[in-house]
Amino acid sequence: MTPVTEATLALKLTERINRIEPSATMAVVAEADKLRQQGIDVVDFGAGEPHFATPQHIKDAGVAAIQGNFTKYTAVSGTTELRDAIAHRHAVDFDSDYRREEVIASTGGKQALFNAVQVLVDHGDEVILPVPYWVSFKDIVRYAGGNCVLLETDETKGFRVTAEMIERLITPRTKLIILNSPSNPSGAVMSPEDLTEVVRLAHERGIWVLSDECYVYLNYTMKRFSVGALREFRERMVIIGSLSKTYAMTGWRLGYALGPSAVVGAMNKLQSQSTSNPTSIVQKAAVAALKGPQQCVTDMRAEYINLRDHVVNGLRAIPGVKCTLPDGAFYMYPNVSAFFGRSGVKSASDLAGKLLREAHVAVVPGEGFGTRDHIRVSYATSVAELDRGLERLRKFLAAL
Ligand SMILES: Cc1ncc(COP(=O)(O)O)c(C=O)c1O
Repeated sequence: MTPVTEATLALKLTERINRIEPSATMAVVAEADKLRQQGIDVVDFGAGEPHFATPQHIKDAGVAAIQGNFTKYTAVSGTTELRDAIAHRHAVDFDSDYRREEVIASTGGKQALFNAVQVLVDHGDEVILPVPYWVSFKDIVRYAGGNCVLLETDETKGFRVTAEMIERLITPRTKLIILNSPSNPSGAVMSPEDLTEVVRLAHERGIWVLSDECYVYLNYTMKRFSVGALREFRERMVIIGSLSKTYAMTGWRLGYALGPSAVVGAMNKLQSQSTSNPTSIVQKAAVAALKGPQQCVTDMRAEYINLRDHVVNGLRAIPGVKCTLPDGAFYMYPNVSAFFGRSGVKSASDLAGKLLREAHVAVVPGEGFGTRDHIRVSYATSVAELDRGLERLRKFLAAL
C-alpha cells in the first residue's frame, strides 16, 4: 500500500479547497506568535484589529445574556431585535432604509462576505477587484469558482478607483464588483461621488456591487458615506458590515449583510446549512453596541486619527520610505521598493521576513494584497509601541 503523505493526501482533497490559500495576514500572526513563545519581544504591526478593549456596556450585555440563560439557538439570520437594531443604526447613520428581511447577521463580516459571494458568483463569472485588495476577497471568489479581474490603481493618486476605470474591465461575464472603502490594506477612501458613479454604472449594466464597509466608521474625511444611501440602486447592491472594528469586537464575531431580500434569503439558506445563527450571547452584546451610546465609536475614531498622524510622520522621516496619507481604517501602506536589491532583499516578502526575524517587527508583505512594493503597517496600537517599532524599522532599513 502507498504510504499516506501530505502530498498524496492533498490529491484526495477537493479541487475547490486546493484552489485557495491560507490568509497571508494570519501567517504573519502565527510567525510572530512563534517568536513570542521563544521569549522574543516582538513589536506587532501585523494584526488587523483594534487595540482597544470592547466597551464596558457591551461586555456587560454579553455577561447578562449568559446569566439570563440567553443561550439557545436563535433564528438563523439573528434575532428580530438584532436585525432591527442593525437596520435602524444604519438608517440613522447613513440614511439607508433596509427592512428586517433585508438584513442577516453572521459570524463576522467575513462569513457574511463569504456567503454573499457564494450566492452571487457562479463558475466562470468575472469579479472586478481593485488592487490592493484585502487578502480574503480573492480566495473567497476563487472558492466560489469565480475569476478575479484585477483593477490596477495608481499609488500617486491615492489608489483611487473610478467608474471609468471599472467600465474598461467590464465584459459579458462580469457578475460582481467588489468595493472596500475605507480599504484594507491601503486605507484609501472612495469619495461619495466616485462610489455613486460606480454603483450607477453597475446598476445600468445589471452587475452586482458588493460593498465591504467593515471600516465605514473609520473614515477620517468629513464625509462618512455608505452606498446604502443610494436607495434608487439598492436592488443590485449588497453591503457588508461588521461590529469588529467599529466597537473593538473582533473576537466576538458579529457581522452582517444588507441587501435585497432574495439575496439575503439565499444567504440565510446557506447559513442554515453551515453555522446557523451567530452566537446567541454575542447577539445580545451586539444589540447593546448598536442601540447604546455611540461616544465610544467617536472616541476610538479620534484616537486612530492621532495614531495615523503620528505614524505617517514617523514613516516619512525614514529615508527611502514613501507613504501616502490614508483617509481611513487603521493601516499605512508604505512603498519600500527603494530597499530592494540591498542585503539580498528582493521583494516585500523578503523584507517583511527579515524585519521580523532580525528586528522583531511584524508587518504584512504587500504580495498578499496584490502589490509587490509595499508592506502593511497596522497602527492600531499605542503611541509608545509605534515609537518602539518605528525606531527598530529605521535602524533595520538604515543597515540594509
Ligand atoms: C476589508 C475587511 N472585510 C472584512 C473583514 C472581516 O472582519 P470580521 O469578520 O471580523 O467582521 C475584515 C477583517 O480584517 C476586513 O479587513
